[in-house]
Amino acid sequence: MVERTMFIPSRRTPLSDAGHLQRADSRVVALRDPRLLWLDKNENTDPIFLSIVFKVLAEIDPGSVVFYPDVAPFYHKLAEYIDVSPRALILAQGSDGVIGSVFRAFVEPGDVVFLTQPTYAMYQFYADMCGADTTVLQYMAGESGPQLKSETIIEMIQERRPKLVCLPNPDSPTGTVFAPDDLRRIIRIALEANTLFLVDEAYYPFYSHTVVPSIVEFPNLIVARSFSKAWGLSGVRLGYGIASPELIALLHNVRPNYETNTVALAMAHRMISEFEHEMRASVKRLNQGRDGFLSAMKELGLRTLESHGSFCHVAFGTASERVHASLADYVLYRQDFSAPCLKGFSRFSSTTGELFAPIIDRIRDVVRMGGA
Ligand SMILES: Cc1ncc(COP(=O)(O)O)c(C=O)c1O
Repeated sequence: MVERTMFIPSRRTPLSDAGHLQRADSRVVALRDPRLLWLDKNENTDPIFLSIVFKVLAEIDPGSVVFYPDVAPFYHKLAEYIDVSPRALILAQGSDGVIGSVFRAFVEPGDVVFLTQPTYAMYQFYADMCGADTTVLQYMAGESGPQLKSETIIEMIQERRPKLVCLPNPDSPTGTVFAPDDLRRIIRIALEANTLFLVDEAYYPFYSHTVVPSIVEFPNLIVARSFSKAWGLSGVRLGYGIASPELIALLHNVRPNYETNTVALAMAHRMISEFEHEMRASVKRLNQGRDGFLSAMKELGLRTLESHGSFCHVAFGTASERVHASLADYVLYRQDFSAPCLKGFSRFSSTTGELFAPIIDRIRDVVRMGGA
């Protein structure tokens, strides 16, 4: 038998020492049970809108997949749709792709990067990959849910002058937002400190305010957007970044040969050309479904959190085990959050009132029978 020799090349950053870089093994099959309603990853599950997505997919020209993607027409279409120059845009594999490129383009070993916590998990991975020195700004458990004051962020930026701040607005998983004026103030302070500021708008337009128009005023601002949430296209992996043409040019330097694939481009092109109104109607249905669910939970005396994203939180208290057992054969959702500000809360992606109804019924039965 041939002896196997170990070969581990030297690395740019000491990945194994970074501590956080324990990615899930994607070769291990962890299929979600197809019989369940998937409300664990904030995808769009609105049947009316999904029928449009399926139709658009079915009508793609099959010949197009034979050729490398022609990205330019979509850049122009998207630029017109968002009302920015195509030079202010970069396409990527999901907003995650934009976030990864921001780190690759700008963050060097030892650079200080600010992350809020809890937040979208990939910021920490990319920060570790780049050997960044991350500082975590904690959401505290407040009466009305997770709280992080804009003053805290401002003081920290002024004190440490980080290279990059990553802030989802709305935040995931907390569902919180910074008010438009506060956010603009934070970005302005960041500019004064020579800090790049990434606003992650993956949940736009579930929360309708956007900082996109501010890219003209703030040359340090990069906005990441996604087709995964409101547009119902998580599987095709398409997102985009919006920033000044100067920052975007630097992001293009580190992108893959083709930003995304032909199917993603064809679907998104048609969706934004023809189905904007339907997408907004779907967002309305999902927000109404979320709010109806939260009201029903409150009526049962359960603690809920206000959310501006396409998801919401409820704490089942002493009924937790019984509620989880009663929902196990119907719906998949997040039961566990380690962050102190979300301790005890379960998170459900927003869905329609009709799809929430059986969930509400089951929870009501459990809570009425045994209390919470
Ligand atoms: C805040 C936030 N940003 C980014 C993403 C990544 O989304 P995608 O890469 O599918 O656009 C997610 C996904 O859940 C998210 O919650």
